[in-house]
Amino acid sequence: MAQASPSKKIQPADEASIKTMPVDQMSADDAAAELMRLAKIIGEADKAYYQDDASTIIDAEYDDLRRRNLLIEERFPKLIRDDSPSKRVGAPLSTKFPKIRHAVPMLSLDNAFDDEDVMEFASRVRRFLGLEDDADLAFTAEPKIDGLSANLRYEKGTLIHGVTRGDGNEGEDVTSNLLTIDEIPKHLDNAPDILEIRGEVYMSHTDFIDVNKQRAINDPDKPQFANPRNAAAGSLRQLDSAITRQRPLKFFAYSWGETSSPIAKTQFKAIEKMANWGFSTNPQTALCNSVEDLIAHYQSINDARSTLPYDIDGVVYKVDRLDYQARLGFVSRAPRWAIAHKFAAERAVTQLLAIDIQVGRTGAMTPVARLQPVTVGGVVVSNATLHNQDEIERKDIRIGDSVIVQRAGDVIPQVVEVVKDKRAKSAAVYQFPETCPVCNSVAIRAQNAKGELDAVRRCTGGLICPAQAVERLKHFVARKTLDIEGLGIKQIESFYEQGIISQPADIYTLEERQTSGEIDLYTYKLDKDGNPALKDGKPQATNQKSIENLFKAIKERRSPPLYRFIHALGIRHIGETNARLFAENYGSFADFQKAGERAADPEASERETMLSIDGVGELVALGVIEFFREDHNKDAVARLLEKVDPAPFVREQGNDSPVTGKIVVFTGKLELMTRDEAKARATRLGAKVAGSVSGKTDILIAGEGAGSKLKKAESLGVSVMTEAEWLAFIE
Ligand code: IVH
Repeated sequence: MAQASPSKKIQPADEASIKTMPVDQMSADDAAAELMRLAKIIGEADKAYYQDDASTIIDAEYDDLRRRNLLIEERFPKLIRDDSPSKRVGAPLSTKFPKIRHAVPMLSLDNAFDDEDVMEFASRVRRFLGLEDDADLAFTAEPKIDGLSANLRYEKGTLIHGVTRGDGNEGEDVTSNLLTIDEIPKHLDNAPDILEIRGEVYMSHTDFIDVNKQRAINDPDKPQFANPRNAAAGSLRQLDSAITRQRPLKFFAYSWGETSSPIAKTQFKAIEKMANWGFSTNPQTALCNSVEDLIAHYQSINDARSTLPYDIDGVVYKVDRLDYQARLGFVSRAPRWAIAHKFAAERAVTQLLAIDIQVGRTGAMTPVARLQPVTVGGVVVSNATLHNQDEIERKDIRIGDSVIVQRAGDVIPQVVEVVKDKRAKSAAVYQFPETCPVCNSVAIRAQNAKGELDAVRRCTGGLICPAQAVERLKHFVARKTLDIEGLGIKQIESFYEQGIISQPADIYTLEERQTSGEIDLYTYKLDKDGNPALKDGKPQATNQKSIENLFKAIKERRSPPLYRFIHALGIRHIGETNARLFAENYGSFADFQKAGERAADPEASERETMLSIDGVGELVALGVIEFFREDHNKDAVARLLEKVDPAPFVREQGNDSPVTGKIVVFTGKLELMTRDEAKARATRLGAKVAGSVSGKTDILIAGEGAGSKLKKAESLGVSVMTEAEWLAFIE
């Protein structure tokens, strides 16, 4: 049975104890102190978010803080402060604007840093499409605008909403702010019934200077915007569109999302069409017929860069023919048909103060340079990535060195090289730790199939390493994964620290363990002196109601959507997008797991099938294979599946193609498309591509020179098609 909550009230004392004190145990003094603290940290987070467009804390934590602030204010209305976050117009971060799911995901772009990368990009495209080196292949090239992208949805010619990119799957509804932008047409003539136009919201240099001047006069207490991009982002995310209206934002159209009918046959023509509808399109957009043309255009844009009235950070190349774009598709969030050729980065020299090792959810130990803060291209940089052990060794980076730091657009700042002349004689060679700084377990660099050492050193502590276990647990319950309300970061940390939850399955046994008396969620753990253990994450859940609510929330998540469950497992390289792909392709967790286990054999057809899923590359497949190779993962999953039953993926009605769910095999030489493309296209239509013929095979597509697979299919009575018949069938 449940016990009463501890009767002894925690005495108001140091800030640390008030920080975690349950609201219903607070005295007025406690409440006042806590409201002051909350006003300060929420204020700082708001400032970072609204003005600097950066985040100082994660969303969930921010929401917890705001909720706590409201709870205290409800109990002590007299203590509401003038500067309370609840009074400010800047509403909560994650609930600030309603979220809208994109009809078509907003992708990002892969980067090219030099001419070689560009050539490699063009060859990749040719290989995928099966084009000879001398076959025509045109690209568009246009500046990459340094702003933030938005999706504008028009229905029957009227702008109905405008959404930020967000995480690519869903963004914030900022329609009223986008309506203030003169360059965005509110009505279109002769447009398809459904038309989504995408492009970049940005601020020009002169407007940026003016906005900062105005700000110095009107809001002298507020810091100046660091650059036009931040000013544009801050202005677009204003809750009060009257303020946005005073900020002169501009918009270049360059892409599109959902359309009820095709808008053109080529990228270049599509841009012309947008210009005809009244959008601003970038005047430096060019049609190029070769890689040489692309690079020449890149040079001319780079030369003109300093005279342009706005910031750009590279040149975007896109395959011009839209039928080619459709065939190329995308891999993990970036299209195969486009690439951003970045400009050389900006650099500065500063001192390396220390090297910290961060341990991630997967045990990866990442060295981070702590730097004497320095301004690089208008942004203050105090941390930079050092990538990994090999990089530190290769560049011979030592603590105390003067180092060159570089920042390129949205890429994390990095240490490029050491200024060796300035090195102190006493500087010692850096020794990369061989044990985990968090749990002390041995940290190793795995070998891949070819016997090469993995670049990343990983802690072997798995679930016993707090850095990994806690991070995995937090990920498991997060909003994007199982979304268990009442089980926030603080609770997880606290439950983990107390040994109440050490792996995901433990969450689902909380109630039975509470009932049996094995644990007691109503009392605090005592430290060795018998006092309440007041470590950072002390449980907030001390009253019956909140514990009941927690049990309820957990129960509600016993049959989560399959993609959420897959995402929640924290498999390397599997974010929401890939989790969805797996859910859609495998349908049930059992099939996904079986495929993951079997794909460990490089010869197995399951490996090929997995790689044939459009959007799944080698890295992603390897993530799944490695995950199911580990016994401790399999155990954790097995324990979890005793309590949780992920809901199988059900394809929405109406999306069916004639091959949905069919198992198909390609064999022989294909003439009309490459094997990669054929597979990508089949999976995109919902078919499963297998590597070998069996009784389960539905269709064998036999190209020229088909041999044993064809024989086998015939003997098994599997239906056989030529490549042309297959294409006619799916069209
Ligand atoms: S095309 C799938 N074109 O770059 C195509 N993006 O790294 C995706 N961007 O989120 C976008 N100028 O904010 C494209 N001319 C341009 C662009 C551009 C700026 C931004 C955009 C996107 C990011 C991708």
